Amino acid sequence: MYYPDTVVEEVRAANDIVDVISQYVKLVKKGSNYFGLCPFHNEKTGSFSVSREKQMYYCFGCGAGGNVITFLMEYENATFQEALKTLADRAGIKLPEREISREERAEADLRSALLEVNKEAARYFYFQLKSSRGGHAMEYLKNRQLSDETITKFGLGYADISSDDLYRYLKGKGYSDSLLAQSGLVRVDERGGHDKFWNRVMFPIMDVNSRVIGFGGRVMGDGSPKYLNSPETRIFDKSRNLYGLNAARSSRKPYLLICEGYMDVISMHQAGFTNAVASLGTAFTLQHGMLIKRYVNQVILTYDSDDAGVKAALRAIPILKDAGVSVKVLNMRPYKDPDEFIKAEGAENFQKRIDEAENSFLFEIGVLRQKYDFQDPEQKTAFQNETARKLLEFREELERNNYIEAVAARYGMGYEQLKSLVVSQAAHYRPRQEARVQETERPKKPKEKDDGNRRAQRLLLTWLVSEPEIFPKISPYIREEDFTDPLYQRVAVMVFDQLQNGRVNPGGILNHFINMEEEYRSVAAIFNTTLQDVSTKEEREKAVSDIVRKVKMNSLEQAGRQVSDLNALQQLLKQQARLRTLHISLD
Ligand code: UTP
Ligand code: MN
Repeated sequence: MYYPDTVVEEVRAANDIVDVISQYVKLVKKGSNYFGLCPFHNEKTGSFSVSREKQMYYCFGCGAGGNVITFLMEYENATFQEALKTLADRAGIKLPEREISREERAEADLRSALLEVNKEAARYFYFQLKSSRGGHAMEYLKNRQLSDETITKFGLGYADISSDDLYRYLKGKGYSDSLLAQSGLVRVDERGGHDKFWNRVMFPIMDVNSRVIGFGGRVMGDGSPKYLNSPETRIFDKSRNLYGLNAARSSRKPYLLICEGYMDVISMHQAGFTNAVASLGTAFTLQHGMLIKRYVNQVILTYDSDDAGVKAALRAIPILKDAGVSVKVLNMRPYKDPDEFIKAEGAENFQKRIDEAENSFLFEIGVLRQKYDFQDPEQKTAFQNETARKLLEFREELERNNYIEAVAARYGMGYEQLKSLVVSQAAHYRPRQEARVQETERPKKPKEKDDGNRRAQRLLLTWLVSEPEIFPKISPYIREEDFTDPLYQRVAVMVFDQLQNGRVNPGGILNHFINMEEEYRSVAAIFNTTLQDVSTKEEREKAVSDIVRKVKMNSLEQAGRQVSDLNALQQLLKQQARLRTLHISLD
């Protein structure tokens, strides 16, 4: 964070969230909250809520949520600094000169210097493409049917054949060898600097805010490697960025198209599918999924039609589902990728394929089907058992039955027959998590018990924030350190501190996580969860006692693993015994 917390807090507090958001979204008061149409996803009924009390917004449809600063960041596509400045101006507050620690400044300076270097390089490559030296590169792009408009929109360029011209150009701008080496654009040794990219068509990779963070370079013709990419640097994290998202985020379509490559994204955008992004050859990650979830609830996979593309789809589907995104798969056959499809068949037919895209579960079963020969009764049975087991991933009976119906119809099985197979499989296998982990070789999820403990910690925080009056009742039993999850512990420290000194201020706490996307979402979720209405006093007392017991018990268990001397252990055991009969009275 560049400004001291107190300044950020002053600006935030001076801008009432309802007033600010009302300038962008029509809000109607309902009860203690305000509601309107969510500006972050397409909807017809208003699930976007703004709370004056919490100074936060939350969309029950798409999960977007935050405080007045993040609203501006998201809505105006602004950086934190820009949003803060706008709000400071609005409230007539003069922002101080930046005041930060030396390490923070060094890190921030390094990052912004690297961004500058990348921007300069992108300009240089673009200029080269347009110059006479770039004639054959321009010809290559034209042969691939890219228009001037597209070339400009994506900032395409050309790295020429001399092996150190970019290095010399950037040196001439005053950048140091060390900085240039850290940008990944050049390699510096005792003989001087050497450009990483030469004689390639250049694709600048941008983050969601359209800042250049790296490059891909393609050989013109058949060389190897076909694409060369910037290494990961302080500003380029491949698992957290998607090529094309800076443009796709403002397409206002309720879904994204996900493909494999630079050219696929560009072709789709040129054909009017401006909601296309690519994960660029790197494996799809949960961070990618969560990034996507910030903008849409649905994606259509448009991966290559070859085996690698199918594999990539099978890998991405469960990850996207875990991120809360629903998935369909587009049938590209007989073409290899979106670029080829659109060239051969045009945008209209591509749109048809989008409309016909297959539900991801049915796609998975379809892939499974290929592995079995139905002429052989044994193999057919094996397929049916495997399918029944996969159907267990749907925990809701209604949804599961709908899928059973669809699968049964498609593969010539009776509905009742498949259903009873599913029931008998349920007795043999644990659902979903374990089955999935095996198939996709994803890193193991934390054990269920850990999840339970984290859930209890999160719930306790939610409860404290929404009903601060319970704090004095539970504070004799629980301390900040009892929140063993590192993130929840950080939040607990702030919540406890605010509870002891007055009132809780969720919007203020959220500020601390503003630069950390995942953490930010988790913390926003703590503050925006609505508690189940436990109505009678006895039920509320039991619920609160249960949660406190669970959180404390876990904390004691963890402490127990650390102690070695007998006395301390006995102390712990005593505490645990007392906990078992804990009853918190809410009188
Ligand atoms: P493809 O080999 O499918 O390339 O790789 P493509 O998108 O069809 O490219 P064109 O149409 O031949 O130009 C898909 C993506 O995988 C990454 C790139 O991001 C590419 O866009 N890739 C591929 C590499 O990083 N390096 C390579 O050598 C090949
Ligand atoms: Mn291609």
